[in-house]
Amino acid sequence: QNTVPSICGMPLKYVSLVTLAVQNALLTLIMHYSRVSAAPSETYSAAAAVLMTELLKGFISLVVAFTRLDCSSLPSASLWNPHALFYRFRRLGREVFRPDCWKLSIPAILYVIQNNLQFVAVSNLEAATFQVSYQMKILTTAAFSVVLLRRKLSPTKWLALLCLAIGVGIVQIQSGSGAHATGETNSHEMKPFKGFMAVVAACFTSGLAGVYFEMVLKNSPADLWVRNVQLSLFSLLPALLPIICSPSAPSPTSGVVSLQLFANFGAWAWATVAVQVLGGLLTALVIKYADNILKGFATSLSIVISFLASVALFSFQMSLTFVLGSTVVLVATWMYNQPDTGSADGSSYGCCK
Ligand code: C5P
Repeated sequence: QNTVPSICGMPLKYVSLVTLAVQNALLTLIMHYSRVSAAPSETYSAAAAVLMTELLKGFISLVVAFTRLDCSSLPSASLWNPHALFYRFRRLGREVFRPDCWKLSIPAILYVIQNNLQFVAVSNLEAATFQVSYQMKILTTAAFSVVLLRRKLSPTKWLALLCLAIGVGIVQIQSGSGAHATGETNSHEMKPFKGFMAVVAACFTSGLAGVYFEMVLKNSPADLWVRNVQLSLFSLLPALLPIICSPSAPSPTSGVVSLQLFANFGAWAWATVAVQVLGGLLTALVIKYADNILKGFATSLSIVISFLASVALFSFQMSLTFVLGSTVVLVATWMYNQPDTGSADGSSYGCCK
């Protein structure tokens, strides 16, 4: 059974869900602003941001995993002496490179693709439109849960998923009709169709990666933080690929790789990376202590936050169709997250350390 830790008496499950909702809204707003506030030729490299996020997330997870190692066999007074440190590093190395570590390569690749697609989507859609459309993750997560985990969905859940798809469709009418924010810079031209296609693809990878990660996490005794380190390690190669293969990539021997990579990488780009790192760590906690379905509920709260902030910050013009579509999506999300009467939600399967 899960032992659910708490912070100041509040279960970590709920703390992480609420924090995730706020983080999601913040990420959309900051990422959107960081991309559209400059002309495309003057903006930072999305691939560099994805790589930095993975490096930072991996480093934080490594530190946490190190401090959580079971050292009961060592006398507590000698935990930090060189001999004990060497022993602990070796233990951590063995944990990280355990024989089943390859399983994390699948979600790692999917998440890197998703994180790159997210930049394309958020650069071509209004922040609020992106946030609503991204709720289709619930649909793909449900589909993969049914197929891979053999979860059963009640008729209410199927109806909620149908409403969700209709709601997102209604919101797209607004974005396709060329309605746009007036308060934003006009240096960046948005392409709603391209943005929407990127969201659809990102929802697909999100659903598959999330369900797969949950499956690996809950069916093996390895520590969450060790799994996160493995995820980041396997992310490095796919995150580096677009940088290496980019047509403008400088020769690795020229010595200007790092300069090129971080061209235009200003405060907003770093803020995007920081909020993305926080989101990754929170997502892992939510998947461990709650589940993917509750995660969807938390992010629906972020629709409201992003929506209000878009009106205030980007002079987002809300139309009747947008309000209608968003309301349908919110109601659908709420409906989907209602516990089924008489049966377990099916959210837990297998053991969890
Ligand atoms: O939108 P979704 O919830 O699928 O996004 C998951 C995000 O969390 C991705 O950016 C992914 O890289 C990150 N993540 C993570 N560590 C995990 C699980 C997800 O960094 N263990």
